[in-house]
Amino acid sequence: MSDAQQNNAQQNTGTSAARHEERDGGVSRRSLLGRFGAGLAVGAAVAGGGTAAVLRLGDGTEPAAAAGEAVPFHGAHQAGIATPVQDRLHFAAFDVTTTDRDALIALLKEWTAAARAMTAGREVGGGATVDNEELPPDDTGEALGLKPSRLTLTFGVGPGLFTKDGKDRFGIAGRRPQALIDLPAFPGDNLDPARSGGDLCVQACADDPQVAVHAIRNLARIAMGRAVMRWSQLGFGKTSSTTPDAQTPRNMMGFKDGTRNIGGDETGRLEKHVWVGEQEGPAWLAGGSYLVARRIRMHVETWDRASLKDQEDTFGRTKAEGAPQGLSREHDEPNLKLMKPDAHVRLAHPDSNNGVTILRRGYSFTDGTDRLGRLDAGLFFIAYQRDVRDGFVPLQKKLAAKDALNEYIQHVGSAVFAVPPGVRDHDDWWGRALFS
Ligand code: HEM
Repeated sequence: MSDAQQNNAQQNTGTSAARHEERDGGVSRRSLLGRFGAGLAVGAAVAGGGTAAVLRLGDGTEPAAAAGEAVPFHGAHQAGIATPVQDRLHFAAFDVTTTDRDALIALLKEWTAAARAMTAGREVGGGATVDNEELPPDDTGEALGLKPSRLTLTFGVGPGLFTKDGKDRFGIAGRRPQALIDLPAFPGDNLDPARSGGDLCVQACADDPQVAVHAIRNLARIAMGRAVMRWSQLGFGKTSSTTPDAQTPRNMMGFKDGTRNIGGDETGRLEKHVWVGEQEGPAWLAGGSYLVARRIRMHVETWDRASLKDQEDTFGRTKAEGAPQGLSREHDEPNLKLMKPDAHVRLAHPDSNNGVTILRRGYSFTDGTDRLGRLDAGLFFIAYQRDVRDGFVPLQKKLAAKDALNEYIQHVGSAVFAVPPGVRDHDDWWGRALFS
């Protein structure tokens, strides 16, 4: 466990969450078992929850005891980056519609209070049931009786929040980080504007899809009149892990993905490659990061007709074990020369890129079929890094030009966000330092 995580865990135990419950106006979803009686308890079959879930075992499995529990919301860094990757994703990008700075700030404060409640397994505001039945309830209710499910809500701001059409929208144009660039066009991109960009984003990850969807839905509802959802993406299976000892998940191409990712407890590598430093500026982003999201469609029908040898040559790793080609175990140090020159791993490896390293946190998606009967499936790629210009951009420039994988994939959506540091305490809110 990293220092930050330990710090987080100490700061926000289940006890302190309960202590603050009354102050935030949230209602524990579990306490509903009492309110509604045993019928709901049997139907929902849930109990438990409570303390910090940033645990790790060395026996090859994710810690079962932590599944379903609450991940601390307060801390030096936002949860959902270095914390253990959950199984489900609902990622949403929003366009800010209000032109009023105070209204935007009010929204961010309301979002923070709701996020604090939901990540602790509590209902939003006054809850899903209200004393006055003439009023719509504050919480939409579909997570009633469900555990916190390790829900993390990670908030980011896009380039458009600072300036749009040359206009300083909220008096923060001068605070736009230099590293928050508009991503360049890469060869092979086929980006759909309706699935790209956004002024704000929230990445909701949880072990239970209903908990993740509930969170985004309630944030969108709170935003009414101030921001609208521009696009969103569901992900059903993690394709990266930040817990290297756990079993590596497989992507939709059947390969283990995330083998050489940065581990959540590798404090040194996180400081070096993920967290924005105190000195590099802007000050409001110190301890934060940059997020690149790419919706990458896979042509799975073509892939499924490729021979096993071609598939393994494409990545430079074996399919069954995930070992680097020419070696036998998944975690053997790769010998890049034993891979084809256009193999994905050979091209993406830090040794081929002057040490460039990113933290990957993507998810598989399947959004039905297209008009030709092909699965609209792929990888919703998410990467965190300390500077996009030294992270995703050089890597993708190289991959877009040379990667053997390009025969089977196409990038169809794209967005970039600056991700502020963690919310420190109950008086802090998403973006406070940016607007102070
Ligand atoms: C659908 C698209 C993609 C698929 C299916 C895919 C799959 C994989 C797989 C199976 C591995 C080997 C296991 C591992 O170390 O994680 C890998 C490694 C890696 N990929 Fe991708 N990837 C995709 C897109 C990208 C993109 C867009 C980037 C960055 C721009 C990227 C960067 C990396 C990096 C940095 C590594 C680790 C290389 C190493 O250190 O050995 N990947 N990818």
